[in-house]
Amino acid sequence: MCGIVGFVGKNFKVKDVVDSLKRLEYRGYDSAGIAYIRNGELHVFKSVGKIDELRNLLGENLESDLNSGIAHTRWATHGAPNDMNAHPHTDCTGKVAIVHNGIIENFRELKALLEGLGHVFKSDTDTEVIAHLIEEEYRGNLLEAVLKAVRRLDGAYAIGVVHSDHPDVVVAARRGSPLVIGIGSDFSLLASDITPMLRYTKKFIFLEDGDIALLKGDEVQIFRTDGESVRRATREIDWSESAAEKGGYKHFMIKEIMEGPQTLVSAMTGRMKDGIVSIPELEELKLSNVSRINVVACGTSYHAAVFFKYFVEQHTDIDISVEVASEFRYRRPHVDNKTLTLAISQSGETADTLESIRLAKRLGSEIMSITNVVGSTITRESDISIMMNSGPEIGVAATKTYVAQLAILTLLGLQLVKEKGSWSGRHKRILDNLIRMPELFENVLSLNDQIRDLATKYKDFNHFMYIGRSYGYVTALEGALKLKEISYIHAESYPAGELKHGPIALLDPQFPVFAVVPSDSLYLKMKSNLIECKARNARIVALGTGDNEELKNLTDDFISVPRVVDELYPLIMAPVIQLFAYHVADLKGYDPDKPRNLAKSVTVE
Ligand code: F6R
Repeated sequence: MCGIVGFVGKNFKVKDVVDSLKRLEYRGYDSAGIAYIRNGELHVFKSVGKIDELRNLLGENLESDLNSGIAHTRWATHGAPNDMNAHPHTDCTGKVAIVHNGIIENFRELKALLEGLGHVFKSDTDTEVIAHLIEEEYRGNLLEAVLKAVRRLDGAYAIGVVHSDHPDVVVAARRGSPLVIGIGSDFSLLASDITPMLRYTKKFIFLEDGDIALLKGDEVQIFRTDGESVRRATREIDWSESAAEKGGYKHFMIKEIMEGPQTLVSAMTGRMKDGIVSIPELEELKLSNVSRINVVACGTSYHAAVFFKYFVEQHTDIDISVEVASEFRYRRPHVDNKTLTLAISQSGETADTLESIRLAKRLGSEIMSITNVVGSTITRESDISIMMNSGPEIGVAATKTYVAQLAILTLLGLQLVKEKGSWSGRHKRILDNLIRMPELFENVLSLNDQIRDLATKYKDFNHFMYIGRSYGYVTALEGALKLKEISYIHAESYPAGELKHGPIALLDPQFPVFAVVPSDSLYLKMKSNLIECKARNARIVALGTGDNEELKNLTDDFISVPRVVDELYPLIMAPVIQLFAYHVADLKGYDPDKPRNLAKSVTVE
């Protein structure tokens, strides 16, 4: 996830800005850059690679004093990771420099318009339009120009701006991406989170969406986008830097689960137009001609693929097969030039998934991928790639990227429905529920304490049986994987209807069942399965919906999420299974961020 820092006032040196930027390294990045104003002149240095390469580039300039400065670590979204696309970006006059975190949805339209007015662009980024817009709107007042520029932006942004005519000022604005101001005695700072500022101050202002701030010395003025002045509370936070990296949470895993609402917003941003799904990456592809889809993935990404299969089968006539990539690559798959192959991989580097798309390509298939890492091998070898835009996931277990995958696959499924001409009220309801999902997620995440209590109750069992049907089975698959990989408890997942074909023999009071039982079309079937489990004296944790008295009576423990359309239960239930696994692992004294024997990116067979 991109990181921003900004400095103004006091006797700062360039190296102070760069050192602070280094505190954002944990967020992951592919390039870094700085713009600072010294003696009324704007200086910009940027480089692909690590911050140490930026340091080398700066050389003796590191010791220079500055009036103001902004710096950035970039996690590529629009345009490859290279020097040219690294931030800061400048306008045509070389007086304005800007750093940005987020995605500008209407950048293509704005770029065309600005080029028509004679602006010359130097990068492939969406960010650069903001620098040119500020130049276009500038009449001597930087704040006014930024206000006017951001009013023209659609999408998400956190920005920091400097202008060489205003050496002692930094202007900041946010909508949809976080931005925090640090207040010192004769200076003020800006950053994506408090981590890089803690060595200078403990006083912070958290900007709200639609805020624009003018930082000058230790004076901070805040306005709304319409120009109205507002006051924001200053908060004192005395965290250590390592606690701050984790947003105050004990582990990255729980921080990343809690980032679910923002992850959903990022996954959906720019992929809907006028209330209808519209994924720009798919413009090149004639989806209406697609009659067969072959999905390859591993682990959690495979579970997202199973969800997609159920969705596509239910809503279209497309033939869809889903394969674990390590199996697919050694078989004789029926894939040809009429098949679209979809690879799902958060890392974009999983060896089996990569080899599967190479095989599918040799067989003539077009390749589409969904990954979280721009420039990853799978992305580079795909004809079309859709980015998750989740920012780096540091915990080894996939959590927020699974949420992003489910959201994007829902959009992709809906886009297929639209292109096939079978859009109906049902699809509108799915999209409406998806749009509300960030808000519904807040509700589910507030169950954290209840889920920790549940984890305390069940942490000492050695086995767990996760069951579900249809979309509930997807949640069972992922729930069992999460539990086993970080808490080392043996967990199985079965379609509930399969229980009586063997696995039910395992059940007894020491082998609890985690049942996924939304009030969907298969509720009554699930209820029968629960009665069967009870007859074997198994304890049951039921993950259901609403205030279901029947389930409460039938089971030992009941957790409830809000009701949504059946297709979206895997999404709304994801935080529950993730939090349950997280708390069990933590209570057992394991480090959920670094489970034994596992790697974040599996680049070997
Ligand atoms: C589970 C997990 C793994 C990955 C799998 C595929 O929490 O992280 O099962 O999902 O290794 O990785 P990607 O998605 O990077 O291809």
